[in-house]
Parts: sequence; C-alpha cells; structure tokens
Amino acid sequence: MITPTIAAMDTTLIEQLVYMASAFFFVTGLKKLTKVKTARAGNRMASIAMLVAVLMTVYLVAFKGQFHGDSVEAIKASIPWMVGGLVVGGLIGIFLAKKVEMTEMPELVAFFNGMGGASSLFVALATVVAFGSGAVSIGSEQTLSAFKGGDISLSIGLSILIGSVTLTGSLVAYAKLSGKMWKNRFGPVGTPGLNILLAVAAIGLVVFGGFLATGAMSTTAFLILTAVALFLGVGLVVPIGGADMPVVISLLNSYSGIAAAMTGFILQNNLLIVAGMLVGAAGLILTQIMCKAMNRSLSNVLFAKFGEDDGEKGDTEYKGVTSTSAEELAPLLEAASKVIIVPGYGLAVAQAQHKCRELGDLLEATGIDVSYGIHPVAGRMPGHMNVLLAEADVAYEKLFDLDQINGEFKNAEIVIVIGANDVCNPEAYDNPASPIAGMPVLDVWDAQTVIVIKRSLSAGYAGIKNPLFERDNCLMFFGDAKQALEDMVTEFKDL
Ligand code: TAP
Repeated sequence: MITPTIAAMDTTLIEQLVYMASAFFFVTGLKKLTKVKTARAGNRMASIAMLVAVLMTVYLVAFKGQFHGDSVEAIKASIPWMVGGLVVGGLIGIFLAKKVEMTEMPELVAFFNGMGGASSLFVALATVVAFGSGAVSIGSEQTLSAFKGGDISLSIGLSILIGSVTLTGSLVAYAKLSGKMWKNRFGPVGTPGLNILLAVAAIGLVVFGGFLATGAMSTTAFLILTAVALFLGVGLVVPIGGADMPVVISLLNSYSGIAAAMTGFILQNNLLIVAGMLVGAAGLILTQIMCKAMNRSLSNVLFAKFGEDDGEKGDTEYKGVTSTSAEELAPLLEAASKVIIVPGYGLAVAQAQHKCRELGDLLEATGIDVSYGIHPVAGRMPGHMNVLLAEADVAYEKLFDLDQINGEFKNAEIVIVIGANDVCNPEAYDNPASPIAGMPVLDVWDAQTVIVIKRSLSAGYAGIKNPLFERDNCLMFFGDAKQALEDMVTEFKDL
C-alpha cells in the first residue's frame, strides 16, 4: 500500500521570489498576447520567464538536492539528464519552429499538447515507482482519501489520468489533422462497440476513485489506471469529426495545463501549479470561444457524433457558375466605394497576404473604404488570419470579427473572398442536415457583388459544396490567390 509524501520544499525566500517573479511575467506576458501590438513582447516576456523558471529548478535540483535527498551520487547522476534534456529539447524546438509551415501549426500544437501530457504522466509514474521501491520517504498514517498536507496520491492519480488522456487524445488529433490516420478528415470514426468500451472505462475510473478513497492503493492500481486512461484518450477523440478538431485541440491544451498543475502538486512546485493552471484556464476560455463561433456546445462537439454520420455532404456538382478575370474586375473595383476582403485558408497556402495588403492599399489610395472580415475559425488555427495580415502590416483597426462585419456586407459594393470557403457557406443557415449547420458564417452574399478567388470548385475543409458559388451576384476568379491578386493589382494600376 502506498501512502506517499514528499518533504516540504527546502527553498529560500530569494528562490521563492524568483518563482513568483516568473509567475508574474507569465501572467503579464499572457495579457500582452491579447493585443497585436504587444503580442511579440508578451511572447518574449513569457519565454524568458520560463527559461528563468527552468534554470532555477535545475539549480534547486543540482545544488540543493531537491527531490533526491542529500545523496551526492544521485545529484551528480541527475545533472547530465537535465542538461541533456535542455539541449535536446531546445534543439528540437528551434528545428520545429523553423521548419513547420504556418498551415501545419494545429498539428504541431496537438503534438506539443501530447508531449505536455506525456511529461505529466511520466513524472507521476516515476513518483509511483520511486515510492513503491522505497527510494523516496513514504508517509505512514495519511489516508489517500484527500489531498491534504503532504499526501500526493490524489495528485498522482489525476496527473496520470489527465496526462494519459491528453497524450493519446492529442496523438489521435495530430494523426487526424495531418491526414495520417484517416483519409476523410471531416468524418467521425465510430463504432457502437467503442461506446460500450468507453462506458466500461468510465465505470472503471469511478471504481478506482472508490479505491483511492479507502486508501487501498498499489503501484499495480496506478499502472491499470494508466492503461485505462490511455485508452480513454484514444476512444474519446477517435469519434470526433475533423472539423471539430480545433476545439478538441484547444480542450486538450487545457488538459495538458491541468495535468501539469497536478504534477506541480506532486513535485510541490508552486510555479508549475501556476503555469499549469494558466494554460488550463486559457485553453478552456479558447475552447468556449470556438464553440460559440461554431454555434455548438462543448458536449455536442465531444459526444453528439458518437457512432453517427457527421452530416450529409450532399451534391458537389455546380451549375451556372460565372467565372471572371482580372481585366473584368478592375473597372468593377474602381466604381466601388466600399470593399470588404474576406481571407481564408487559401490565402495562407498561397502566402498571398502581402499581395492582399497591396491591393487593399491601392484601393484605399483611390478613396475606396477597405475593411477585412475575419471569421474566428478561418484558416487552420485560432487567429490564423490575424497573424498573416499583421505580418503583412495590415492595420489592426481594419480587421473586424464576424459580429462586427456581418451587418456591413449589405453596404458593400464588392466583397473579395480570398481562399475562403466554409466560413462563407450559406449551407450553414439553409441546410439543417449540413455538417456545418448552425455555424455562424460571414454573410458575404449580402454585398452587391462577391468575387471569390480560388483555384477550382473544390471543397474546403468540411468537404461540402458551397452554393454561394452558384449565386447570381457571385463571380469566380479561378487561380492561385497570390497570382490572382497580383493580376488584379496590375489591371487596376493600368486603368
Ligand atoms: P476552407 O473552407 O478550408 O477553404 C479553403 C479554400 O482555399 C479551398 O476551398 C481551396 O479551394 C482554397 N485554396 C487552397 N489553396 C489555394 C491557393 N493557393 N489559392 C487560392 N485558393 C486556395 O477554408 P476557410 O474558409 O478558411 O475555413 C476554415 C475551415 O477549416 C473551417 O471548416 C474550419 O472549421 C476548419 N478549421 C479551422 C481551424 C481554425 S482554428 N481556424 C482549424 C482546423 C480546421 P481550391 O482548392 O479550389 O483552391
């Protein structure tokens, strides 16, 4: 039977103050991330705070024997591991940051979340193994019924549970998003048997909680918990459709933070608790924002699709589509007084943000009012379009979110949709059986004329037809977004 405790932290006031300063800069950095102008500074601030926190932890372990008692051998043995971890982790981080395309960011975030979950899981398991083998002092009288004083069993259990679910759930999300696991990324993968297995796993967890309350706990029980939780992570994410993956990733991000906070309780590291809870809370808030943007409740995203089809894809044939060219568009634009630009995933693929700004500037220089309508899930990651347009120096004041811009389309002569599809699909309103039914979309069709720039009539992420392309006031300008915008700029200048 394990009733573990860890000796109270032997840290000085200065060391605690360094941790507190790091926590303060995490919070301040996070706050700065909410504005484009201060976002870079906020990111830098939080990164430096994290580096200081890591170095302080290394110092505590290497020079004060934290977590290893006073054994000089144990301290010496831990140094190569820590330095190795810092170097290898740092190099992998630099490599990935340089290599990964902006469009692959959600996959990367999913992968990082999984690694966060894995870290919490392994720290908890290592603690279980250390207690089990008597390598760390084991408290005698405490029960496992509650986390109080030095009793950390509940934290170990939660760290294992949440860390494992985060690990396998994130890996499934990664595989789904990158198309490595399922060809049809939008469709859910569900079997009736899976629901039964998940129910059994959930009951198993309740029974485990009962064991935890009685204190009848063993290393084996923690290992069984790990296996059940790893399965739960796979089982919970596999049935969810790819279009809901951004929400799932954001939720898993939150889980990874909560798991880290639980690990903070195990290691009695206040900063880890603070940082973990910041990630946990931020992830939950983002999850809620995204659910609202898709007009879904979280329970609907997570559970409603079990074993069902994800909605009908419907007819994908188009009739009566009107295509256009840069020469035809130039005079149309010249006659406009208000133009709204709606960017989407295709803008990111074509890296057309600079050309987009060039066209916007050109129109503005002739007195046309230009603004940008940004859908909360346009592109492939939260804030994707904002990041791209900020990179191209489009003034932040010109970007308007869905609620602000939707009433404005009717006042615009022209809307230019650049590589966006699902976020301006009227099926969301018109077809209750559509996979995107109920999702708030940009009402671009309210404008006098809608110009859609994309390479073909291919579907977007949701894999469904977009009847906008068949509307009378819609002109399709087929081509790569960057090239198409360049042609429009040239023709407009030639007028
Ligand atoms: P999508 O609906 O995915 O449509 C993008 C369109 O861009 C495609 O139809 C494609 O058509 C076109 N395109 C691709 N490359 C292009 C290029 N080089 N030049 C011009 N066009 C190009 O994009 P959206 O409207 O931004 O909607 C986002 C979708 O992704 C939503 O379904 C959302 O739920 C999902 N999602 C969002 C996120 C977040 S958090 N933003 C994360 C994951 C998934 P062609 O092939 O014909 O060119």
